[in-house]
Amino acid sequence: MSNDKKGVFITMEGPDGAGKSSNVPFLAECLRENGFKVAVTTREPGGSKVGELLRPIILNEPMDSTAELLLFAAGRADHINRVIKPALERGEVIISDRFCDSTVAYQGYGRGLLEKVRELEEFVHGDFYPNHTLFFDIPFEECLSRLSKRTDKQDRIDQEAIDFKRRVWFGYQRQFNENQHRMVRINALDDLPSVQKQIQNWVHVEFVPIHRHLQHYPR
Ligand code: TYD
Repeated sequence: MSNDKKGVFITMEGPDGAGKSSNVPFLAECLRENGFKVAVTTREPGGSKVGELLRPIILNEPMDSTAELLLFAAGRADHINRVIKPALERGEVIISDRFCDSTVAYQGYGRGLLEKVRELEEFVHGDFYPNHTLFFDIPFEECLSRLSKRTDKQDRIDQEAIDFKRRVWFGYQRQFNENQHRMVRINALDDLPSVQKQIQNWVHVEFVPIHRHLQHYPR
């Protein structure tokens, strides 16, 4: 992680069905209430203009796994250099719904391209990684059960076979075990109010003491 950045970069991660996306605005609001300037909440695939243009292609067009990985990497490079780093330079907090851990889990473990994912990580990120990652952890069977109840339109990756989903789930567990210095486990099996309590608790107990110097109006 680069030490010269001024703001804070937070990512939200977890398998489909873990319920992370609905908590991105909640975390942003919680940080604002605590006096932090959260200027940008963003997402991947997406995040920058080019990333958002790539998003429907990545999520809807059937494609080769190598092409998929390279498109995620292209979008990420643009997102990092044109959106995330400038926000950090301004001393802001930026939250991304998915980032590099998704690529490790989905393309690395899901598609079996872990070695290539690591090589691209080196090329695209250098030493740039999130300061904090909230990992929405949920038992595999519960993911499947939640996904089966979803009525919104499923994208190409949501529609993958159960074995793919199992590998992705396992990939997240491995990634969490190997990156505990930046990854915080959120028990996503809890109901929404309890998940939000865990997020609030993390902000108060871990985030504020480390990043107090960025508070604009501490309470
Ligand atoms: P997301 O927008 O989180 O979908 P949803 O709203 O359905 O949760 O992410 C879209 C899909 O893209 C999701 O299935 C995960 C996948 N994905 C990858 O396969 N690799 C990546 O690097 C990223 C960022 C996402």
